[in-house]
Amino acid sequence: MEKFVINGPCSLNGEVNISGAKNAAVAVLPAALIVNGISRVENVPDIKDVRVLLDILSKLGAKITKEDDNTVICDTREVNCWKAPYELVKSMRASYYLLGALIARFGKAEVSLPGGCDFGFRPIDQHIKGFEAMGATVEIEHGIVKIDASELKGAQIYLDVVSVGATINLMLAAVKAKGQTIIENSAKEPHVVDVANFLNAMGANIRGAGTDVIKIKGVDHLKGGGTHSIIPDMIEAGTFMIAAAATKGDVVVKNIIPKHMESLTAKLIEMGVTVIEDEDFIRVISGKKVKNVNIMTLPYPGFPTDLQPQVTVLLNMAEGVSTITEGVWDSRFQYADELKRMGAKIKVEGRIAVIDGANVLSGAPVKATDLRAGAAMVMAGLVAKGRTEVTNIKYIDRGYENFVQKLNALGADITRVSTDD
Ligand code: EPU
Repeated sequence: MEKFVINGPCSLNGEVNISGAKNAAVAVLPAALIVNGISRVENVPDIKDVRVLLDILSKLGAKITKEDDNTVICDTREVNCWKAPYELVKSMRASYYLLGALIARFGKAEVSLPGGCDFGFRPIDQHIKGFEAMGATVEIEHGIVKIDASELKGAQIYLDVVSVGATINLMLAAVKAKGQTIIENSAKEPHVVDVANFLNAMGANIRGAGTDVIKIKGVDHLKGGGTHSIIPDMIEAGTFMIAAAATKGDVVVKNIIPKHMESLTAKLIEMGVTVIEDEDFIRVISGKKVKNVNIMTLPYPGFPTDLQPQVTVLLNMAEGVSTITEGVWDSRFQYADELKRMGAKIKVEGRIAVIDGANVLSGAPVKATDLRAGAAMVMAGLVAKGRTEVTNIKYIDRGYENFVQKLNALGADITRVSTDD
C-alpha cells in the first residue's frame, strides 16, 4: 500500500491543465455499448475508475485500444454478454450505468452492484422505478440486479429526487425504446449533457439535457464511427481553485468551462478571493484574508457536494464562523474527525458542519475516507505546518489524474511512498 507524505506549508503558483471529467467518462464509455460500432473517445482521464471500467467493457467483449493515455477506441460490435458479476464490478461505484446500457443493447442485463459507499447508502430506487415505467421487470437476487426488458417502451418518469445517476441511466435505456420518454425533475449536471451529446452524435434523439425535463425519442439504431471529447472535470478544476486560495497562491486553472464553475467562483469572491475568468481558464489569486461564508451543497447549478470537503479546509482559515449544509448526501462529513486531528475546529450535527475558522493546521497522519475527502486531506497537508501523511490514497487514485505531479509542478512537496517505508 502507498501513502502521500506532504511537507507544508506551501504556496501554489503557476498553471495547471484540467483533465476530462471522471463522472462524464464513467457514463460515456458504457454508453458506447449501445452504439454497437466503433467510438473514439478523447480527453478520457487516466484514473483508476476508468481503468476498471475499460476492463469491464473488455470482459463483456468490447475491443478497447488506446491511441494515447487519454484517447480510447471502443469497438463494441462483438459484445455478446449482458452479465457483469460481482468480481468484475466490485470496485466500480458507477457500475449501475451498465444496466441502462445493456438493456438498451440486449433487452436484458444482470449487473451486480457494490453496496454502501464510503459516505453512506447509495440507493438506485429511482433508476429502477424508471426502468419499470418503461416496461422492464426488475429483480434483485443475491446482490445482482436482473432486468428483463425485451420491449422497452417510452414513458413519462418523474424523479422523486434529483439524481445524476438515474437521469443518465434512464436516458441510456430510452435511446432505443419504442416511442418517447420524458424524464422530469432530471439532473442538470454538465455530464448529463455530455452523455446526451455523445449519444446524439451517434444518432440518438435527446432534447433538453441540461434542463429539468429531458425528452428522448427512441431510434432503431445508433451508428458508430464518431469521435467525442469528454468535457473538462469541474470537480478537479474546483479542487485546484480552492487549493490556490487556501495556499495563498496564484494559479491559472486551464482547459475548463468557466460557466460550470459559477457556484464556486461566486463563493470564492464572497470569501475575498480574486477570480479572473476567460474563455477556457480561470485564474485564482488568494486574498490577504479569507472571509467566513455559509454554503449549502445542492444539485447543479448549486454548489457541488463533491467540493464540500475541499472547501471546508479553506473555511478553516476564514475569519469567523462558517457553516456548510450538505444538501445531497446523508452523511458526508466523516473526514471532519481527520481534520480535527490537524487542529481544525469543526462541529458536525447531522447534515450541518459549523467551522470555527482562523486556525493554523499542523501536519499529522490522516486518512482519506473517500475520494473528495482524500483531496481535502492533501489540501490540508499543503496548508499545515510540518509533515502530513495521507493514507488510503487508493480513493484519490480513483478520480484524480496525476494529482501529485500536478500539485508538485505548482510548488507542493508531496511524495508517494510505500506504507512499509
Ligand atoms: N438517490 C436516491 N435514489 C436513487 C438515486 C439517488 O434516493 O435512485 C439520492 C442519493 O441517495 C443522493 C441523491 O439522490 O442523496 C443524489 O444522488 P445521485 O444519484 O445524483 O448520485 P450519483 O449519480 O450516484 C453522482 C456522482 C457523485 C456525486 C453525485 C451528486 C458519478 C459517478 N457520481 O453520483 O460523485 O456526489 O452524483 O452530485 O457521477 C464523486 O465523484 O466523488 C462522487 C461521489
